[in-house]
Amino acid sequence: MTIYPTADARKAAAAARALQDVADGMTLGLGTGSTAAHFVRALGSRVREGLKVRCAATSEETAALALSLDIPIFELDALGTLDLTVDGADEIDPDLSLIKGGGGALLREKIVAAASRAVIIIADDKKAVETLGAFPLPVEIVPFAHRTTMQRIAEAAAMAGCAQNLVTLRGGDAHPFVTDGGHYIADCDCGRIPDPETLAAMLASIPGIVDHGLFIGLASKAYIAGEGGVTEQGQG
Ligand code: A5P
Repeated sequence: MTIYPTADARKAAAAARALQDVADGMTLGLGTGSTAAHFVRALGSRVREGLKVRCAATSEETAALALSLDIPIFELDALGTLDLTVDGADEIDPDLSLIKGGGGALLREKIVAAASRAVIIIADDKKAVETLGAFPLPVEIVPFAHRTTMQRIAEAAAMAGCAQNLVTLRGGDAHPFVTDGGHYIADCDCGRIPDPETLAAMLASIPGIVDHGLFIGLASKAYIAGEGGVTEQGQG
């Protein structure tokens, strides 16, 4: 039976399920992207009904949306360890390893996720994959010598056994995409990432890389919505 016929309806359904895990008084991390925006809008309705939460946002875009809905936004430093973060993802594998950063917010998303006791990933079923890599891996890099850093990224992907290693500058040289932190994004089309841990370690050792979109060991569980309903993946 088809309950959620569109990707957008599935994103909203996953977001609604995650909202059930939010309790009064919690500190929350708010993710970035179209799925996370569904969660923020649903949370805003609950806040207007009287739910008390204090939140940290993973992007300026999310902060603006939350504030427009009267959701209280604080600096992460003011909240310390968060009770729960709810965020989207670009790909989710069976181990709950993720590719994130399609919206360019991966650095703040990873900082907020790492500062959270629990991280719930919400997504439509197109994001669930057996092996990461069909979605190009976003890597946040400093503008200085970015072409050199992009070459190192390509070499790392090859050494880590990825099916391919085509690295492009998001937005192109004329109008590079600039993150909230003032950095560029290099997207590495890996095709298939057979060993995400090895690639993550290699990328972390390259000067010029600020962070990368492989999120390993950060997600507690995922709510994945398909046409028939929402399923839970992993342990809370
Ligand atoms: C933002 O930088 C990303 O990590 C998003 O969480 C991811 O791209 C998912 O976005 P959508 O929910 O819009 O697909």
